Amino acid sequence: MKRILLTGAAGYIASHTWIALREAGFAVLGVDNFANSSPRVLDRLAELLGEAPRFAQLDVCDSAALSALLQREPVDAVVHFAAYKAVGESTQQPLAYYRNNLLGLISTCEAMRAAGCSRIVFSSSATVYGAPETLPIREDSPTSSTNPYGATKLIGEQILRDLGQADAGWQTACLRYFNPVGAHASGRIGEDPRGVPNNLMPYVAQVAVGRRERLQVFGNDYDTPDGTGVRDYIHVVDLAEGHVAALRRLLAEPGSFTVNLGTGRGYSVLELVRAYAEASGREIPYEIVARRPGDVAACYADPSAAAALLGWRARHDLARMCADSWRWQQQNPQGFAP
Ligand SMILES: NC(=O)c1ccc[n+]([C@@H]2O[C@H](COP(=O)([O-])OP(=O)(O)OC[C@H]3O[C@@H](n4cnc5c(N)ncnc54)[C@H](O)[C@@H]3O)[C@@H](O)[C@H]2O)c1
Repeated sequence: MKRILLTGAAGYIASHTWIALREAGFAVLGVDNFANSSPRVLDRLAELLGEAPRFAQLDVCDSAALSALLQREPVDAVVHFAAYKAVGESTQQPLAYYRNNLLGLISTCEAMRAAGCSRIVFSSSATVYGAPETLPIREDSPTSSTNPYGATKLIGEQILRDLGQADAGWQTACLRYFNPVGAHASGRIGEDPRGVPNNLMPYVAQVAVGRRERLQVFGNDYDTPDGTGVRDYIHVVDLAEGHVAALRRLLAEPGSFTVNLGTGRGYSVLELVRAYAEASGREIPYEIVARRPGDVAACYADPSAAAALLGWRARHDLARMCADSWRWQQQNPQGFAP
């Protein structure tokens, strides 16, 4: 049985990946410092997995602690999720973002090298495409960063490329996620943003459940069919399966790769609002306000590289994403809070 370390293991995407990996027969070890997650996630995982999750609380920037853990518990590959992820916050706290996201990655790679592990999957993001010039976005599209968070993803990818150049023994997979949404079908785990949600679907979910009065739609004068921004929403369970496929490939064959993980289909803000209203049976009041600086009109993936290389494609549609998000939100109106 192959052994996988998940950093940022209690987070939104990692917790769903944990389940997908166990279902696929991998052994999983998780680490997290709960900077943006709750220890209660581990109780829910125990319930869903029918076993106690193997977990250590630590900060991945603490290379010595991570190194000691990997010496004690060797792994075959690492999925590095641990990072701060709020774009707006990154513009206000650039040093915290560069420190945590870049030092965390470097420290993880150092601990891996000391333990003789050289396969890593990195959580990258569609944000590395900046303002895309052509759609759908292919992996060879130009990249740029418009904020410190995006810069940490671009530099993170570069660090991994350089590592592979310096030592062909390293195998790296950069997965560029589009817009992860939805939740596990059980309704027991899901996205639990702290404070005001930065992303659309969690905000809509909180309006639907009555935690927030109305949604603000940032601009309806974009060059899109209904004037609102278009994004490639991908079910978090599909995304989790993408990690399983990437790990299988890394473990089976030499080489490194960078792929988009998206559905290839864009939906507008208003389409998402309508789909959520239907899934929840609740009205979603909204108002149109000014565009938000830095937002692009449309962004969706060409997912064909992941299909060709990994045999992976997203399976869940928008109705399912909304239904699963709503089940989680309705059953856990305050997220993981007691
Ligand atoms: N959710 C998205 O929209 C999205 C899109 C593209 C890329 N990503 C990337 O995917 C990854 C996971 O995102 P998510 O949405 O699950 O976020 P999340 O905040 O739910 O999960 C990240 C986890 O990492 C942990 N963490 C942060 N710094 C740490 C450190 N120094 N040591 C140990 N643990 C640490 C947090 O406590 C959290 O549990 C991140 O790298 C993020 O940048 C997310």
